[in-house]
Amino acid sequence: MGKIVGLTYDLREDYTFKEDDPPDANAEFDHQHTIEAIEEALRKGGNRVVRIGNVYNLLKKLEELRLDIVFNIAEGIYGRNRESQVPIILELKGIPFVGSDGLTLGVTLDKLFAKKIFFAEGIPTPRCLEIAHPDRVKKIKLNFPLIVKPRYEGSSKGLSVDSVVKDIKSLRDRIDYIVRVYKQPALIEEFIKGKEFTVVVLGNNPPQALPPVQISIDGKLDLGENIYTFAHIRSDSLKYICPAKISSRLRKKIENLAVAVYRATECRDFGRVDIRVDEKNNPFVLEMNPLPSLSWEDVFPLVAKEMGWEYSEIINRILNYALERYGLL
Ligand SMILES: Nc1ncnc2c1ncn2[C@@H]1O[C@H](COP(=O)(O)OP(=O)(O)OP(=O)(O)O)[C@@H](O)[C@H]1O
Ligand SMILES: [Mg+2]
Repeated sequence: MGKIVGLTYDLREDYTFKEDDPPDANAEFDHQHTIEAIEEALRKGGNRVVRIGNVYNLLKKLEELRLDIVFNIAEGIYGRNRESQVPIILELKGIPFVGSDGLTLGVTLDKLFAKKIFFAEGIPTPRCLEIAHPDRVKKIKLNFPLIVKPRYEGSSKGLSVDSVVKDIKSLRDRIDYIVRVYKQPALIEEFIKGKEFTVVVLGNNPPQALPPVQISIDGKLDLGENIYTFAHIRSDSLKYICPAKISSRLRKKIENLAVAVYRATECRDFGRVDIRVDEKNNPFVLEMNPLPSLSWEDVFPLVAKEMGWEYSEIINRILNYALERYGLL
């Protein structure tokens, strides 16, 4: 039976840049064609779709909405709780929604919080430190090279070739840049040279890892000190490879790790885990993305193809996991 499905999202063109915003402030937001693709997929599944838009539109329309469920891909507007804004309003109003709840979204957007959970659960993740001011860098017990990231951003915001640092001076400069431009503490992590994978996980009881996608940069699978950045996404130098070119043993290890991360952060319905594997084949979790991009250019369509599914099938499977959770299937 088809459902009435509301769609919450943030569009790039809806973002108004503030004067002191970094240039990639709207990088997490979706393109119109992604919204159209999801809408089309849900219709193909026999559902009726009601476009809602961002959190402000949701608040305006809240009283008049008559929906079975909301398919939420809204990134939220501001701050480290931004991804939780839409889910919390829906929860308050008793409207079922697809995907993780506000707590999971908040904890995972803040990379330091998420890593504390990984450490506690024995999930391997690079050693790290939070530094809110460049002057606090004196003797650090981490091994260079290090990578410096904003504490709570996604979509490679704040990351470029200058993020990988090999000495105290460049570490300080980069922390200064992150704190000034992104207005938040920097997370510094030991840099894992080697290979990179991203793993889609679907479902709930139990969650299932789909075939890992391998990242290739400039035609290379051994990435060395190269990292995945916004600049790479926009050029042709970044390629997603599925199935990954690895042994079935390593594949299994990566898939199990992805499911462990998904469970540890209590994700629901769908998610994507970013993993690096060092030169000795030890995997390390970089982050959990409970709100990964469903765009055509991203990994979901590729993984769906590998499973023998159309894009619309993966979208409707995600919807069905949520409906099942609420007993609405
Ligand atoms: N500790 C690390 N060692 C090696 N490379 C790293 C490390 N941390 C991050 N990177 C590189 O930087 C990229 C972006 O980092 P991360 O996934 O933490 O940030 P993000 O902006 O949230 O990513 P996304 O674009 O997936 O939302 C990774 O895909 C990887 O290439
Ligand atoms: Mg990532």
